[in-house]
Amino acid sequence: MDTLLPGAPAPATAGLLRDAPWMDEAGRRGPFELYDQAVLGEVRLLLVGAGATRWFVPVLDTEPGRPAAGTRAFDLAVVDALRAGLRLPTARGNVIEFRGAPAVYRGPLPFDPGWCSNALSLIDLGGTAHTHKSYRRIGTGNREAELLRLMADGGRTQRPVGDYTYVDTATGAREPLGVLYRFAEGEGLNVPLRAGIRALWPLLADGVEPDTAVGASQRDLVAPLRETGRFLRDFHRELAERLGPHPEFPAQAVLDESGERLARLTPRILADTRYPVAVREAAATGLSRELTRVSGLPARPWPTGPCHGDLHLSHVLRAERADGGWELCVIDLSTPRADPADPATAQSPWQDLAALTRGLEIFTADEFSDHAAGALGTDPEDTCRTALLQAAGARPDTPGWSEERLAGLARLRRAAGRWAARAGNLLADAGPDRDSHPAWRLLRLRRLIHELDYAYAHDRAYHAAINLRHAVETSRLPAGG
Ligand SMILES: Nc1ncnc2c1ncn2[C@@H]1O[C@H](COP(=O)(O)OP(=O)(O)O)[C@@H](O)[C@H]1O
Ligand SMILES: [Mg+2]
Repeated sequence: MDTLLPGAPAPATAGLLRDAPWMDEAGRRGPFELYDQAVLGEVRLLLVGAGATRWFVPVLDTEPGRPAAGTRAFDLAVVDALRAGLRLPTARGNVIEFRGAPAVYRGPLPFDPGWCSNALSLIDLGGTAHTHKSYRRIGTGNREAELLRLMADGGRTQRPVGDYTYVDTATGAREPLGVLYRFAEGEGLNVPLRAGIRALWPLLADGVEPDTAVGASQRDLVAPLRETGRFLRDFHRELAERLGPHPEFPAQAVLDESGERLARLTPRILADTRYPVAVREAAATGLSRELTRVSGLPARPWPTGPCHGDLHLSHVLRAERADGGWELCVIDLSTPRADPADPATAQSPWQDLAALTRGLEIFTADEFSDHAAGALGTDPEDTCRTALLQAAGARPDTPGWSEERLAGLARLRRAAGRWAARAGNLLADAGPDRDSHPAWRLLRLRRLIHELDYAYAHDRAYHAAINLRHAVETSRLPAGG
């Protein structure tokens, strides 16, 4: 029987949670605990503990096995609650606070956000498109709504019109559950970049010299990518102004920590039997040489200040203006909390730029593997793996790699590498001698270590092969300027 008391969720809800694609595997195994809930119109808002994690799960009140996120009933109820400034009491005597002033709900709009960790729907509020984002996993220190409010006047992020929060009345602890913001027209940076790199291949096929082909395929991208670099610098400046004092970046501590992480990662690379020993050693050596080189570079002041926290190509939206320039907007603000007195919480805007550059390099590598496989008549995964072997100076060990194919692969790989480097220089506006700055090189290396850790933790062979190739190639970045 379904009551308003905390305890186990209704069996239908437990069924929903066991199959929830947005929940991690450990969470899906349960046990599930319904620790609080409230009814809002036709929707029941559940707060559920699943194993060690906590989740916000809106379901239809009459059908507790049916998720309410994305339904008209849920969107409408939330908009009405926001407009009314509702303080909704929960079964456990806590409260869900709705605040904001959205225009009246007029109906749903079609929207496909692609795969994402939270629930997003597009709705018409007073004639303007807005996004309703309700969070799934909670207890993560999320402060998107707060950041959007702080940044609203700058116009570089989405403009918030309301948010709702679970408030523990005993402790005052606040847990954001959802936010509504004005929809920013646009598409991720991956879209124009894809068009650019796909314009490279036919030029190379026609025998155009690689540097000329890279330049020609990026002709229309140069000005807007530079503009994006400036936009991101302004975004970081604004974020720093809004958030106030920030701790100094502990450069030596970050260098030491990167050394420790690399020491943990290296045995995994060396034990990775998917690749010949020489390849594993080349990747491990590439990383350790880079770390040694970074620690030997003359000390320079580190750029310090808050970062976006999850910057990748799809989190920078662009809409094309009539003059060909880009209207830009960053989304999914994930800035971690910083304590001015605690260096361990220090951030650097270059962390974002390093992450974005690496995102661009991985994106390019993916496009390259895909194109090379099509052009050479090979399998994409095998092509990606063979490109790694080739970069490490090893012979291919799978069938079909004639000398001609290998020469084609090498040519495409080098051109793709130059393409990514040139686009990255435009996008990550980190000063003229960026590549000789210890901060830039270390943050880049740290990101690569993080990506490899992730690829190993999630058993992603394709991404591991890309990242290992970049590890092999990493010390080939221009040395000290
Ligand atoms: N204003 C928008 N315009 C276009 N796409 C958007 C917009 N807002 C979100 N999206 C798409 O929805 C995805 C998920 O949104 P995001 O804020 O990143 O949610 P999550 O916290 O789940 O990652 C984005 O990566 C993007 O692809
Ligand atoms: Mg996102």
